[in-house]
Amino acid sequence: MTSPIRTERHGDVLVIISDNPPVNALGAAVRSGLDAAIRQGVADASVTAIVIRCDGRTFFAGADITEFGKPMQGPGLGEVIDMTEAADKPVVAAIHGTALGGGCEVALGCHYRVAVPSAKIGVPEVKLGLLPGAGGTQRLPRIAGVALAVQMTALGDPISATRAAEAGLVDRVVGEDSLAADAIAFAKEVAAKRPIPRASERSVQPDPEAIEAFKKAQGRKMRGFDAPAANIACVEKASSGASFAEGIAYERQEFMTLMTGTQSAAQRYMFFAERQAAKINGLPADTRPRPIRKVGVIGAGTMGGGISMNFLQAGIPVTIVETAQEALDRGTGVIRKNYENSAAKGRYTAEKVEGMMGLLTPTLSLDDLAGCDLIIEAIYENMDVKKELFAKLDKIAKPGAILASNTSYLNIDEIAAATSRPEDVVGMHFFSPANVMKLLEVVRGAKTAPDVLATVMALAKPIGKVAVVSGVCPGFIGNRMLSQRGAPANQMLMEGVAPERIDKVLTDFGMPMGVYQMSDLAGVDIGWHRDPTRIESIRDALAAKGRWGQKTGKGFYDYDEKRQPTPSPETRAIIDEFRAKGGHAAKDYSDDEILAGLLYPMVNEGAKILDEGMAQRASDIDTVWIYGYGWPVYRGGPMFWANTVGLDKVVAGLEAQGVAVAPLLRRKAEAGELF
Ligand code: 3HC
Repeated sequence: MTSPIRTERHGDVLVIISDNPPVNALGAAVRSGLDAAIRQGVADASVTAIVIRCDGRTFFAGADITEFGKPMQGPGLGEVIDMTEAADKPVVAAIHGTALGGGCEVALGCHYRVAVPSAKIGVPEVKLGLLPGAGGTQRLPRIAGVALAVQMTALGDPISATRAAEAGLVDRVVGEDSLAADAIAFAKEVAAKRPIPRASERSVQPDPEAIEAFKKAQGRKMRGFDAPAANIACVEKASSGASFAEGIAYERQEFMTLMTGTQSAAQRYMFFAERQAAKINGLPADTRPRPIRKVGVIGAGTMGGGISMNFLQAGIPVTIVETAQEALDRGTGVIRKNYENSAAKGRYTAEKVEGMMGLLTPTLSLDDLAGCDLIIEAIYENMDVKKELFAKLDKIAKPGAILASNTSYLNIDEIAAATSRPEDVVGMHFFSPANVMKLLEVVRGAKTAPDVLATVMALAKPIGKVAVVSGVCPGFIGNRMLSQRGAPANQMLMEGVAPERIDKVLTDFGMPMGVYQMSDLAGVDIGWHRDPTRIESIRDALAAKGRWGQKTGKGFYDYDEKRQPTPSPETRAIIDEFRAKGGHAAKDYSDDEILAGLLYPMVNEGAKILDEGMAQRASDIDTVWIYGYGWPVYRGGPMFWANTVGLDKVVAGLEAQGVAVAPLLRRKAEAGELF
């Protein structure tokens, strides 16, 4: 096998080049090749300096994640980096694309770094539940200081080349199109310079205030995760006066603890799950997506507005349609306000906001959608109204336009049948708030054309979404599973468990909110029959008393003016009164029982969804839950989580709850298989 590493001589400079598509991951062959090439450069007395650069779209984007958990082949990355740093002639990293993780660590082991302006540098290991384990936690603070090192390691977001240059992480920002030549010129400039700057030989001042401030500002974001604290501890170690070798030993120990833990396994699984979700089974290989240059959105409410924002941010013009001028003005006003709020936080410039608003065309006429390549309906959930609308669109839309519905549970095939072109109809289910939540459930109708599906899936990336294909079934993947949680939660209320206790078990598990916090946010009155004298459920009883949720300042919880919830004595009394009539005996639940009671039925439904082919793979279901509902990524989604619990235990739990066990779940549990 040919090595992904080759070398070139440019006068006295040895250039080492990696060509390991797609992202120059530092797999065994790359490490061996690098190791050999650096040794060659060091041994050759005619070489005065070395440049390391990469072909293709990026500098090394990290260790090869597919090798994790397997026996190590060839030299370790840490060894290669240590050897690079120990070289007695200057080594220059020439960075383009993304120098991430192990790639950033290679650059930190080099004596100098040059980068193109568009390059990004970062240590995203924390997002895989890890830390930079090839010396990164020890070299980064020595070069960039504790405050930046903590921020970069514990959050994992990359920084720009300019920011890196300000922090001393990059020695020179070079021409965007002349990296190879500029790096060689730089190497020649520094070839004779002594002493050679080695990060490991530097020391770094402790900065406890910066660490405290960081923890205070980011504590909520990091809640539940193990890796951020481990990253911070390693940076603290680097600045504690410990030697470099002691720091490396500490880093190694922390890295191994994380690497062998469940959280990192879950996060690494999700890295691939998210990418796998974009792949559509059974699509002809020659399927070409249709070009999408102009989008129409029908409905300027919360959903329609949020959906439009995604396209405007991606630079795609949107025509937004409403039935009344007032609603149209309100909807466009909300979009502007959202953008202006982001601009106030420094996310956008004022010009960018105007640019995005300039791409928006509000109208009251559906006829204005005639030129759109994709039209997304985001009106209220009523089958007859949607069918009427799609029949109209069929007459207006140009041939080849994609007609999408944002319905969250209605039958896409029935909607498609209202048109003469069901092959152009697809579901695009965004999650609220649609400009924030990353999930896009793409609903494949019985007649949806392959290129329509491919177009919508491909569109997800530019608009910042993670797309998952779902078949047609009520509630699709996410809401169908969510619906399984309501009945056991209600049963627990009827047995005297307080709503805030049920919610706390879920938020302690890592969900952003519990069943009843979600109810209050969405509206307790949703689906209510609106007859205050008819009280058939706890929800009816609350709704009858005007406890409609956050919008009326009270629901399952009481809310203050800042919308902070507190447990409500009135709700307690309503529940008790209802229970007294229904004759339910009180029952004690442990937290684990509450969790199992709520989540096992969801896993069970997930198994049915998988068995019916409504989801392509178990990891797609997990992707839905992580990106659509905020399931804690460190628990890897419901199906991965069920594997970690033990499928036999889940089956036993469901049986104890009196739930009919899904055949696939039972089969897997009996065969000792996993999802
Ligand atoms: N190892 C193995 N495969 C990787 C990889 C990696 N580090 N990074 C990306 N890939 C694969 C992806 O799975 C994908 O494969 P596919 O085409 O078969 O689905 C392919 O490369 C392209 O990746 P993307 O679709 O993500 O391409 P983008 O252009 O959108 O993004 C990227 C490129 C920003 C580099 C992104 O892939 C990324 O963030 N990669 C991970 C970076 C990372 O986490 N690095 C740290 C690794 S851990 C480490 O280094 C430990 C060390 O400290 C010891």
